[in-house]
Amino acid sequence: TMVGEPVNLNEFQELAREALPKMYYDFYAGGAEDQYTLEENMEAFRRIMIQPRILVDVSRIDLSTNVLGYNISAPILIAPTALHKLAHPEGEVVTARAAAACKTIMALSFTSSCTLEEVASSCNAVRFFQIYVYKRRDLSALLVQRAERNGYKALVLTADSPRVGRKEADIKNKMILPKLKNTERFLSLEASSDNVSDLEAFTKETKDASFWWKDNGSNLAAFAKETKDASFCWKDIEWLSTITNMPILIKGLLTREDAIKAVKVGVAGIVVSNHGGRQLDYAPATITVLEEVVQAVGGRIPVFFDGGVRRGTDVFKALALGAQAVLIGRPVIYGLAAKGEYGVRQVIKMLKDELELTMALSGCTSVKAITRRHVRTERERLH
Ligand code: FNR
Repeated sequence: TMVGEPVNLNEFQELAREALPKMYYDFYAGGAEDQYTLEENMEAFRRIMIQPRILVDVSRIDLSTNVLGYNISAPILIAPTALHKLAHPEGEVVTARAAAACKTIMALSFTSSCTLEEVASSCNAVRFFQIYVYKRRDLSALLVQRAERNGYKALVLTADSPRVGRKEADIKNKMILPKLKNTERFLSLEASSDNVSDLEAFTKETKDASFWWKDNGSNLAAFAKETKDASFCWKDIEWLSTITNMPILIKGLLTREDAIKAVKVGVAGIVVSNHGGRQLDYAPATITVLEEVVQAVGGRIPVFFDGGVRRGTDVFKALALGAQAVLIGRPVIYGLAAKGEYGVRQVIKMLKDELELTMALSGCTSVKAITRRHVRTERERLH
């Protein structure tokens, strides 16, 4: 191949481009509309400088950290991303094994192509489960309870997607959403007599949606519109917390106003995210709003971060601006597509090695030692 052995995460993207059918590569790589936010997530990191401290004993560097009470090897988690079977025949099961090998946490997507049970039984990684809430609240409740029964340790409520963003490559490619495995299994295994009406209702919803899809290019947006509850709002978080003992993280938050609301409704943490630029185009790059959110939260709950993390220096910058850990989305899929489990492990290892080197060169021997004074934002440079 042109790339050969990859030396950084961006080269994994090239390998994935070579390995995948164009339709699937475009689905993973793409963003909404002009893809301004997609690009800006990465560009904004380039405008932040690192301010190193010299003559610190950096002969030993400790990357380990704690997330919601779980010790992990580095502040780098696997973000929930859809449909890993389009990248690898065994899908999320492979990703989860890599997470376990790297001693980190994987958040399984609601839109996964393996069932949550398959992923649970395939590895001993700490797993979170991400959800969107269906119009049919009762179906959502059963899904949440299934995740809890199967040992998922936190619920990640993705709140930036009441509708699905317009990804024009998917429309052009006529990208078709495969069956949603978590719901399918729920329907076949748990559709006992008193659940038959659920089964019928859902099958009908899905059928109606599929009729709809035909003349709409991609069926992704249409399916979501038919099944997702776009009326779900802040007051409904309380309902969610009554149906589960799992801590709830809200993902997709970008402003101080919403950070204050999140603290108020009592969630266990938030993920500053713009869905990797796939939802609202012209939403700000996540690294430019992280500090605003961190300040509004004031240490009351942990703040996590995702969007455009491709280098150890990016992880360092997010930690300096107050994130407890970062999540990575696309790089994991690229690793999976290019080299399977080994590829995902390599992606995480590369990022860890880069972070360790960045810390050594900046005079930080532990994650806690990385402070706000270790970075200089664009605004600070201008003044
Ligand atoms: C996502 N993301 C996402 N988020 C979520 O909560 N549920 C999901 O099912 C998905 N699906 C999904 C598919 C694909 C192909 C991508 C690229 C992303 C968003 C994801 O969790 C995360 O916010 C971003 O991927 C982070 O940006 P980077 O790391 O991809 O730049």
